[in-house]
Amino acid sequence: MSWIVYKGFQPGQLDFGWPVWTLIALWLSVPVLFYFCMAHATYLWRVRQKRLAGPSGNDVVVIVLGDLGHSPRMAYHVRSLVKSGRFVHLCGYLESTLPDFLYDDDTVDLYEIPVIRRRVWIPYLVFAAFKVVAQCCKLTSLLSTVIDKNTEYVLVQNPPSIPVLAIAVFLRKTICPHVKIVVDWHNLNFSILNLKYHNDNHPAVQLLRNYEKYMGKLADYHFTVTEKLKEFLQTDFGIDGARISVVHDRPGDEFVPLKGDKRAIIKELAVLDGFRDADKLIVSATSFTEDEDFGVLVEALKKLDSKLDSRVYMVVTGKGPLQKKFLDAVAQNKWSENLIIRNVWLPVSDYPKLLQVADAGVSLHYSSSGLDLPMKIVDLFGCGVPVVSMDFPALHELVTDQNGLVMKNNSDASELCDKMYRLLYEVDLKPGALRESARRWDQEWRNTKIF
Ligand SMILES: *[C@@H]1O[C@H](CO)[C@@H](O)[C@H](O)[C@H]1NC(C)=O
Ligand SMILES: *[C@@H]1O[C@H](CO)[C@@H](O)[C@H](O)[C@H]1NC(C)=O
Repeated sequence: MSWIVYKGFQPGQLDFGWPVWTLIALWLSVPVLFYFCMAHATYLWRVRQKRLAGPSGNDVVVIVLGDLGHSPRMAYHVRSLVKSGRFVHLCGYLESTLPDFLYDDDTVDLYEIPVIRRRVWIPYLVFAAFKVVAQCCKLTSLLSTVIDKNTEYVLVQNPPSIPVLAIAVFLRKTICPHVKIVVDWHNLNFSILNLKYHNDNHPAVQLLRNYEKYMGKLADYHFTVTEKLKEFLQTDFGIDGARISVVHDRPGDEFVPLKGDKRAIIKELAVLDGFRDADKLIVSATSFTEDEDFGVLVEALKKLDSKLDSRVYMVVTGKGPLQKKFLDAVAQNKWSENLIIRNVWLPVSDYPKLLQVADAGVSLHYSSSGLDLPMKIVDLFGCGVPVVSMDFPALHELVTDQNGLVMKNNSDASELCDKMYRLLYEVDLKPGALRESARRWDQEWRNTKIF
């Protein structure tokens, strides 16, 4: 009977090598993984079923895939939401200081979306792909906790639309059927991309356009910054007009006409060092991006310089990608003593002060889509300052012959020079700008209807 004697393993009998052991380990882990996934899926399914009955609160989750400190419009939305008695969860990048009320208010919760930066050099496309995947993971995990049973609306800023629109729509279709997605359209992301290609039919532009279109159609409500943008969403994206509300941008509370002593304010601003009572001040705020033409401003300033017989300060505020190009162009010219050109990056608290003491504003923004409006003009009007602006389709919803001068040919430096000169010395559009200043955000916000 010796053949049934158990002999145990012989030394060396289990030396299968690591590939076989790996396969065995994988095979053994299948039931564990399966159990884990099923448990998770069942849990998520139950969450979904429970939520189908609707939200149990009236909270709003506001998402900005950008720096919250530089998203004034979204901050005004948040403030209005809080005023109307809602609890707000605000998600975005926390790179710069936020308006005070966002910190003080115990009805606003802040959630940081981590910024993904290119730390080591890798090709742009590889980085972009990596960034989107990383953001998808981050946003999904963040939003699936921030959006809870009390959430009624999710308000998403667009652009940027990748990947945040898709994530919001995905969550709405899966575990958050109780929320309504509201897209706040500031512009069209595909038109921003098109600044690079100047070709509507470029595959990347078309892809982004379709992405925005279909994600947009899957959302529940829409706000737009202009009537023109609403028309576009209706005609080109096929979104039902009844679900779109126009909410024009309005200046914040700090942008009001000057009340106190002009001299005292001028003294507070280092950039106006040497400013005398008789001097004039032109302000142009910018983020030095592709949709602004600084070449034409520099040329116009050269012409203005030779026309002036009293002193003018030209202050360009802001920083951005094309800043160096502008400063170089300014440095290359020899300016007379009558024109003093300065570039400055002002703290949030000083910027309204500068506008309050300005005589005229210049807006070089010509809008990638032609459908949005420059916040800079809105803020200037808030302070009652008339403007010279580049022309584009939506502009006439804001600038009229009562409050500003609009370019006929955006690339004509002589015309820009003439218009700046006229605004400073020949026409008085201040009353019109002051009337515009009286229209404020709260009135516009009533148009949202759903809130
Ligand atoms: C979308 O818009 C944002 C600005 O909000 C811009 O930074 C980003 O580059 C745009 N995306 C593409 C693919 O152009
Ligand atoms: C606009 O101005 C530019 C620069 O002066 C000029 O080259 C161009 O022909 C003008 N365009 C029109 C339509 O007048």
